Amino acid sequence: MKDQILQFLPENHPWKEQLLYFKSIDSTNTRAKELARANALHGTVLIADSQTSGRGRLGRSFHSPAGSGIYMSVIIRPKCKPSELMHLTCTAAVAACDAVEKAVGIRPGVKWINDLVYGQRKLAGILTELGLAKDGSVDYAIIGIGINCSQKEADFPEEIRTIATSLEMIVGRPVDRAKIAAALIEEMERISQELISGKENLMRRYRADCVTIGQSISLLRGETVHHGTALDLDDQGGLVVRFDDGHTEAVNSGEVSIRGMYGYL
Ligand code: BTN
Repeated sequence: MKDQILQFLPENHPWKEQLLYFKSIDSTNTRAKELARANALHGTVLIADSQTSGRGRLGRSFHSPAGSGIYMSVIIRPKCKPSELMHLTCTAAVAACDAVEKAVGIRPGVKWINDLVYGQRKLAGILTELGLAKDGSVDYAIIGIGINCSQKEADFPEEIRTIATSLEMIVGRPVDRAKIAAALIEEMERISQELISGKENLMRRYRADCVTIGQSISLLRGETVHHGTALDLDDQGGLVVRFDDGHTEAVNSGEVSIRGMYGYL
């Protein structure tokens, strides 16, 4: 697999020498963090055929069976403050949509903040994590992405079977995971260069992909569910919501459900 991915990358790609491939691993994000703490270079890429403890946002797990998906983490080292990276997940989502479109020919949407979706179902998830230096600046950022590639509906665990999809389910033909992985590496490298200078443009593109805007949503905060309408995004990627009690607020965390998506009625 590693050789196939390398074949799809341009000869002189700057991250080509830093690609690590694992047959099985607990979590590429967890390992990436360990490597980043041990001074791994900007542009170190970890890809696994399967994960035994794939992690998602909000402490969830990410189902990562062998031979079916792409499980990738990238270590980047932007020189900035953590407050300047609030849009990192949004940026990674745009890059992932670009990669899927380039390699497979369909463009997913994004359910705020980190799910790639297609036909109301979840196709991929993104988990970004930061490590800080002693002076409070960013030491490293990990961008983790998991994409369902070749699963059929029956392959998903029962609890996500009706809300998950895969690229093969969408396009109805086999997809080349190595080609998609290479496209992901290229797009992640591209956004790593534009992260700060190109923020406005990246957020404009995220806004265009985000299917949450304009929808009736519910926000789960702790044990409480709040209902409202998603109006827009702020510059940091926060979701601007007008709640049913009349107040408007930019939401930065919590679980947002969209009416009509993932079985939420
Ligand atoms: C989510 O759905 O909330 C995010 C899922 C992110 C999964 C990817 S797979 C590669 C990387 N390693 C992990 O443990 N998680 C991310």
